[in-house]
Amino acid sequence: MALPSGRVAWLITAHDQVRQVLASPHVSSDRGRDNFPIRFKQPDPEITEKFKEFRPSLIGVDPPFHTRLRRSVITEFTVRRTRELRPRVQEIVDGAVDDLLESGKDGRPVDLVAKVSLPVPSMVICELLGVPYADHDFFQDRTATLISFKRAPEDGLKAFHDLGDYFRDLVARKEKAPTDDLIGRLIVAGRENGDHDSEELVGLAQLLLIAGHETTANMISLGTVALLEDPEQLRALREDPDTLMPKAVEELLRFFTIADTVTARTATADIEVGGITIRAGEGLIASGLAANRDPHAYPEPDSLDITRNARNHVAFGYGVHQCLGQNLARLELDIVYRTLFGRVPGLTLAVPAESLSYKDEALVYGINEVPVTW
Ligand code: HEM
Repeated sequence: MALPSGRVAWLITAHDQVRQVLASPHVSSDRGRDNFPIRFKQPDPEITEKFKEFRPSLIGVDPPFHTRLRRSVITEFTVRRTRELRPRVQEIVDGAVDDLLESGKDGRPVDLVAKVSLPVPSMVICELLGVPYADHDFFQDRTATLISFKRAPEDGLKAFHDLGDYFRDLVARKEKAPTDDLIGRLIVAGRENGDHDSEELVGLAQLLLIAGHETTANMISLGTVALLEDPEQLRALREDPDTLMPKAVEELLRFFTIADTVTARTATADIEVGGITIRAGEGLIASGLAANRDPHAYPEPDSLDITRNARNHVAFGYGVHQCLGQNLARLELDIVYRTLFGRVPGLTLAVPAESLSYKDEALVYGINEVPVTW
């Protein structure tokens, strides 16, 4: 297929083939490769060169460097570590829902995105990394610019620069006096192992902040709207959240697959996929959304069914780059949906669902505003 950037790439859509290519050792995530399937419209060669000045982090690097970098941070995101965060995440969610209820107590519609969807994952990732939440307007704005296809590439470059400068400053402060948070712990561990590298940490922290809030925020909004629009499934979920919530979270992740084209690669050797040879050097996009709607993998894939077993979906990708924050995202979604639907029984959309404005032109799908009442 031809991309808005003018580049051409294979589009992989079958569930088994998407998993096959993402698990292959013969694909590269390096955005700097000539044929890498960049989607952005006609990148100016000068801007493309400028982007190359940035040292890519985890998501854009290949083994063995990727393996070392991922190993340095994986212990922060294990199932056990994430489970320990549950009480604090619950407190954050309760605080956000309190704020929602307070803002709408006169009966006027309140924006769920501003009160719950964005603040919850932003606060969680800020606490984890050791980033002051007070700076949320700054980093939410720069992230939104960075992932939007509507914005000029110069704006994206500027947003990336701004975030880089912000983290350079933050890392420098923590290097002087390491704090007990992810960035501080990585500084201490890096010094002990003799491999501390400030710029590498800047890139990693920046990636974690970007990936850690916008994605989950969009899933909170989309999942809430989908369930509000499906009263029967919502009633079942409210009656038995302990059984149904884990399944509902997986099904919503499958159904929306919000980061469906980040799983782009360049083949580094010829790969045979479904009887076709993708030649070394050719670009490919392993579409998570197509895979998660593949009827061979999921019967009636276009129906949202919170009782189905959607666990093997690829909404978090597959293979070595599979989402580092998936346990955290699952935890946040579970707590937000439980708390919101549990504490606000009369929650309803204040406008028809068809009139909501969706993020169609962005790397990550979502909704801009969700006015609700109760
Ligand atoms: C990677 C989706 C939440 C951090 C990925 C990938 C996908 C994805 C599809 C694979 C990219 C690739 O293969 O090239 C999502 C979705 C989320 C979510 C749908 C929420 C519902 C998070 C959170 C964090 C996070 C909360 C941080 C705490 C990362 C990182 C990577 C990644 C660091 C790169 C991992 C690597 O390259 O080794 N995510 N993500 N994500 N995600 Fe997430």
